[in-house]
Amino acid sequence: MAENSKKNRKRKSPYTLDRGTPGAFEGETITRRRLFEGGALAAGGIATAAFGLPTLGFALGPVFRDDVEDFWRDVGPESDFNEETYVPKVITLVPEVGGEVGKTTIYVRKATPQDQSPSDKGAPLPYVAISTRCMHLGCPVRYVQASQRFICPCHGGVYDAEGKVVGGPPVRPLDRFYTRVRNGRVEVGKRFSVDSHLRRFKPRDPSNHVDGLWKILYPSRPTT
Ligand code: FES
Repeated sequence: MAENSKKNRKRKSPYTLDRGTPGAFEGETITRRRLFEGGALAAGGIATAAFGLPTLGFALGPVFRDDVEDFWRDVGPESDFNEETYVPKVITLVPEVGGEVGKTTIYVRKATPQDQSPSDKGAPLPYVAISTRCMHLGCPVRYVQASQRFICPCHGGVYDAEGKVVGGPPVRPLDRFYTRVRNGRVEVGKRFSVDSHLRRFKPRDPSNHVDGLWKILYPSRPTT
C-alpha cells in the first residue's frame, strides 16, 4: 500500500496542465500567477532591504564605533578645586567649531572615596566633572550651591549633587567626563553616561535610558 502511494507520487507530472492547475498552459511547470507572485515578493524583499539595511546600519553603527572625541582639556590647577563645592569651568567640546558655539560649561569637584563605584572597570577618576546637558531634552542645567541641586530651567528637571534625578522628566543622571591630573593640573577627557547607580556607559543622547535593556535599545551615539 505504502509502496503504491510512493509510486503515485513519483508519477505526478511536473506540468501544470497535467496536474489540472487552473490557468495552466501547455509546457509550463509553474503557473504565471505563481511566477508573478514570486516576482512581486522578491521585488518587495529587495525594496524592504534597500530601506531597512541603511536604517539598521545607522542605528547599530555607533555600537561598534568609539568616535567620541578623545582629547584632554586643561581646566585649571588642582588648587582650584575641593570636595565640597562644584567649580564651573568652560571647556571646548567641538574643536572644529570656532568661537563660543563649540563650548560648554561643566561642573568640577574633587572626587571622594564615595564617588568611586565598585562596578566601574577603569581606574578611579580623581575629579568629578559633570555635564550641564539636561537628560530630558538637553537644556543647560545650573548648579545651585544653596540647595545642592542641579536645576533645569526648561521643564523643571532637578538633580541632586551627584547628578542623579530627583524630580521632573529627565530619564537618567547627568553625563560626566573622564578626568585626570597632569603636572598638578586637572584635565577633562571624553564624555560618558551613567545609569541610576552611576555606573559608566558610553555616551547616550538625552532622553535615552541606560538602565537594564534600554542600554541595548538605545545604542551609544557619538554626540557631544
Ligand atoms: S530639558 Fe531639562 S527638564 Fe526638559
